[in-house]
Amino acid sequence: MNAIAPAPNLRGDYAAAAPDYTLPQRHAAIPPADHATWRELHRRQSALFPRHAARASRDGLALLDCADGVPDLARASAALGARTGWSLVAVPGLIPEDAFFAHLAARRFPVTHWIRRPEEMDYLEEPDIFHDFLGHVPLLAHPDFADFLQGYGAHGAFAQRHGALRPMARLYWHMVEFGLIREEGGVRAYGAGILSSAAETVFATESAVPRLRFDAARVLRTEYRIDDLQPLYFVIEHYRELFALLDGLEGALLAARDAPPIPVGAVLPTDTRI
Ligand SMILES: [Fe+2]
Repeated sequence: MNAIAPAPNLRGDYAAAAPDYTLPQRHAAIPPADHATWRELHRRQSALFPRHAARASRDGLALLDCADGVPDLARASAALGARTGWSLVAVPGLIPEDAFFAHLAARRFPVTHWIRRPEEMDYLEEPDIFHDFLGHVPLLAHPDFADFLQGYGAHGAFAQRHGALRPMARLYWHMVEFGLIREEGGVRAYGAGILSSAAETVFATESAVPRLRFDAARVLRTEYRIDDLQPLYFVIEHYRELFALLDGLEGALLAARDAPPIPVGAVLPTDTRI
């Protein structure tokens, strides 16, 4: 997740950020140790991509050509811009919802500028550049997903005005962070929370965990956990399904706001298992 109110315990330098929470990446000043951490994380995770990652994630990662060190956001923005018009901006870490939505609506993806410490290779609480870049950025090269994420951001102000931030967060969590797609005769991961975790990449695609056919109204009501592997995942057939839900999203957000939440991990009689 990328949108949350900054708290005193976050490690980014929020004092250095502009009012829109951006700051310069200063790529040339990144220490060699951080590049080494990136290379190791990239090596381990990209090895899982051929078998477990969605085609769009694999293609996007190849386009970004980022195995050699912490990516230069300006260079990646040039590659993305030519494909889908998206660009990347450096931020200190998690940022408030309104700033996050505004960036997405303008086709700017906020990327945390720092990388985890070597002792945090397998898990850290805050998203770092490895999660934000390797997890999220490849999909921004896919036109349908790129259009969906802009449209999602454009609905942020409506959700805030109408007390529907919780359903907005659920949509982002289940479909942007932990989404699966059916392709090539199996289920592949495209969600950033999955693809930036070696354990969850294998678990989400190969274990007996429930994988349910995507249903927008259901997703908007479904609670989630942030501290462990997900207890279920939703599967789309194509990224156009996400773009298509934008059409009725305002009404769907209000309906989900007013409906009882579906508890974490619950499988309903109306669900379709994939
Ligand atoms: Fe994320």
